[in-house]
Amino acid sequence: MADTTISQHGQWSSRFVFILAATGSAVGLGNIWKFPYIVGENGGGAFVIVYLFCVIGIGIPIMMAETMLGRRGRHSPINTMEILTSEAKADPNWHYLGWMGVIAGFLILSYYSVIAGWALAYTGKAFFGSFFGESASGIATLYDNFIASPWQQIFWHTVFMTATMAIVVRGVESGLEKSARFFVPILFVLLILLVGYAMTKESYYFQGLHFLFNFDFSKLSGDSVLVAMGQAFFSLGLGMGAIMMYGAYLPKDISIAKTSMIIAGADTLVALLAGIAIFPLVFANGLTPADGPGLIFKTLPIAFGNMFGGWLVGILFFVLLFFAALTSAVSLIEPAVAWLVEAHKFDRYKACVWSGLLTWGLGVGVALSFNLWSGLKLFGHNLFGLVDYLTSNLMLPIGGFCIAVFAGWIMQQQHSESELAVSSPQFYQLWKFSVCYIAPSAVFLVFLHVVGVI
Ligand code: PHE
Repeated sequence: MADTTISQHGQWSSRFVFILAATGSAVGLGNIWKFPYIVGENGGGAFVIVYLFCVIGIGIPIMMAETMLGRRGRHSPINTMEILTSEAKADPNWHYLGWMGVIAGFLILSYYSVIAGWALAYTGKAFFGSFFGESASGIATLYDNFIASPWQQIFWHTVFMTATMAIVVRGVESGLEKSARFFVPILFVLLILLVGYAMTKESYYFQGLHFLFNFDFSKLSGDSVLVAMGQAFFSLGLGMGAIMMYGAYLPKDISIAKTSMIIAGADTLVALLAGIAIFPLVFANGLTPADGPGLIFKTLPIAFGNMFGGWLVGILFFVLLFFAALTSAVSLIEPAVAWLVEAHKFDRYKACVWSGLLTWGLGVGVALSFNLWSGLKLFGHNLFGLVDYLTSNLMLPIGGFCIAVFAGWIMQQQHSESELAVSSPQFYQLWKFSVCYIAPSAVFLVFLHVVGVI
């Protein structure tokens, strides 16, 4: 039976390491770059509260479900779904869920790598003092010129993809695990330092807090609810098999419920801290919170260029943004690499080269959508916007929906019970109720709303 073996790719050496690695996957650009700007675009506090509901009501139960499926299957999501489908004697089409995950991982990483490349480029700018004494408009020009250059975009994207693949090729213990052990704790320390700096901006600090936590529901549209749900999936790293893959490397005796709550809590904390650190700087510098994807690249450098010790803090911030992205990027590509090794008997190196090259190619298209191809619009979005919308707002929630349905309705109760092994039967029932009813119907209702049925 699958549940007594360990994965052929290796396994986490402890519970703590799994928490670090999964937190590394969860905490990334989604928390530090995306969360603040979509909160800004969606009017602030009301969006945050909807987001928190999504994390607790949908995110945690689905994270438990996805980790559980991974640990029971012990393979890449594609093969895990195949194994679990036959174990449950279910319709073989369920294994397409694994495929959708791998494809979503490619798509996400293609743009993720471009934005992470910005973090790298900005590390260099911070180091060479490009922000020094600059005003808001000077920093905005710096940003505009940077994204207008196709070669710079492609260069930094290439560097980031190479760094990601250099970790993945080393495997579970020496690659994924070591990088998480090192980078994740440092990220927390740095964020706390930045929040400390924002606190010194007193009145702006409170304005920032007010923006994040005032619940003005009139600012909330139906689309914002979809965006909040999509962001919860994206930020927790759910619905595409990343946490399923990490679950496959999880030793048998570790509690999935506890670790899921810790990981989701840490991820949410980082997103909120990032907002608390960033909005005071936005207000203090007369910028608008609804500035879109450029938000942190246009705001924080102003502070770094003008604050005491800003040179060092600026470098550290962007280095750590890069590290946060790196520990997420490895989880986006690991399912594809593991699958190539399992199904095509590739060695890890060859699997990394092929999957890395494919993602890189897609990423070049995304990089160009900020400049040469910016006029090219599909369904009202440029390529970057389209890939982001398609993955965060459609593929991840659909993936999450199917994972919940599979864990709740298709998998035999005795299997989910033994895999989750929670001590309290009431807690198991609560989880089961959530994956059977709450999570699927919440995702479904949001979709109905978006297509205009309700
Ligand atoms: N959770 C990561 C972030 O917030 C991105 C991610 C998405 C990672 C999906 C894995 C799976 O940046």
